[in-house]
Amino acid sequence: MMRKILVAGNWKMHGSKTMVRSLLEGLLKGSSMNGNADLAVFPSFPYLSLTESILSGSHIQWGGQTLNPNAQGAHSGETSGSMLADMGCRYVLVGHSERRSIYAESDVDVALRFKAALDTGLEPVLCVGETQEEREGGQTEAVVGRQLDAVIGSVGMDAFNHAIIAYEPVWAIGTGLTATPQQAQSVHAFIRDKLSSLDVIISDQLRILYGGSVNGSNAVELFAQSDIDGGLVGGASLTAEDFLAIYSAAA
Ligand code: 13P
Repeated sequence: MMRKILVAGNWKMHGSKTMVRSLLEGLLKGSSMNGNADLAVFPSFPYLSLTESILSGSHIQWGGQTLNPNAQGAHSGETSGSMLADMGCRYVLVGHSERRSIYAESDVDVALRFKAALDTGLEPVLCVGETQEEREGGQTEAVVGRQLDAVIGSVGMDAFNHAIIAYEPVWAIGTGLTATPQQAQSVHAFIRDKLSSLDVIISDQLRILYGGSVNGSNAVELFAQSDIDGGLVGGASLTAEDFLAIYSAAA
């Protein structure tokens, strides 16, 4: 099965109007539609409108970094899936490790958000991954398995027809420590095998991205692994040059 690579830039809480404009213009100028790879950015909410106005009709897609599980109502400060869809988002990140650790999102919260994303026509990018302590304790597969089970138990396997998974080992995020291609491939294969026992076809078509200190130098080898279908990139997505180097590695 040939799965199209996705190179996704999670800008986290970075940016300004000036920065967003110049970064997006740099990406548009330095990349073109490619049959082998998709390109997407995840700006903070205030910049989605600007992002839509610059990227609309182009080959680059965009998404939100989280969403509230409710459709609307008295939730000051929050953003719903339908609002993201209204801003032209195709994707939304769900369960990023920073949401899980800093904002105490539980597996159940993550499952609710995943469902809300699907209900509003967004493609959720479900982030999973273990901490350093969990890895050292031999718990990697148990943790990732538990994070997946919470979502599968809530929405069912069919939902993964319209979703993406991102494996992001917490110890590799923003640390400069990348999982080796073999370490990442081993967890990706575990994820695909696990889902394959529920539905072989969906599992085979599902894109599983790797995230954690991806850069222009390690991307080629990571993307060459049979179960790695792209990258969820933090730091290196904040400059057009670095991000485009990763996109070139995929294309
Ligand atoms: P870094 O690429 O900065 O390690 O961030 C990874 C990440 O968390 C993307 O969502």
